Amino acid sequence: MKKILVIHGPNLNLLGTREPKVYGKTTLNEINNKLKKLAQAKKIRLTIKQSNHEGKIVDLIGKAKTKFSGLLINPAAYTHTSVAIRDAIAASGIPAVEVHLSNIYCREEFRRHSLITPVVKGTVLGFGAGSYTLGLAALIDLF
Ligand code: DQA
Repeated sequence: MKKILVIHGPNLNLLGTREPKVYGKTTLNEINNKLKKLAQAKKIRLTIKQSNHEGKIVDLIGKAKTKFSGLLINPAAYTHTSVAIRDAIAASGIPAVEVHLSNIYCREEFRRHSLITPVVKGTVLGFGAGSYTLGLAALIDLF
């Protein structure tokens, strides 16, 4: 059975109550349950992690190479700042899909650049919680 690592970056543990006009009212737990259902239907095993710490995310990706066939990641604020996470994805060599709840290209100037996009297979953004399920489906289709 193929395995996918799902990583939620900083502050995504607050989904449901965090700026609901921007990120919606769906909680992280609800998103994870949708992902698990989809994975189960497609016979894929998921490991889901959330971290507010850049180094922890780098470590998770660093260990993913031998254990996982793909990576689904919402790097959250690190999207716009983290060369370390970008390099970890590139080094892992496993296919990755970047997701965002909001359309970062329609928001503040500082969010309109992703350091992650050049090292992933594709990006899904702007569909709220739906970005995650679309992203996971696209990642599974790559196998
Ligand atoms: C986000 C967009 C980022 O700019 C922001 O820092 C987040 C969430 C999104 O899913 O829309 O935390 O990645």
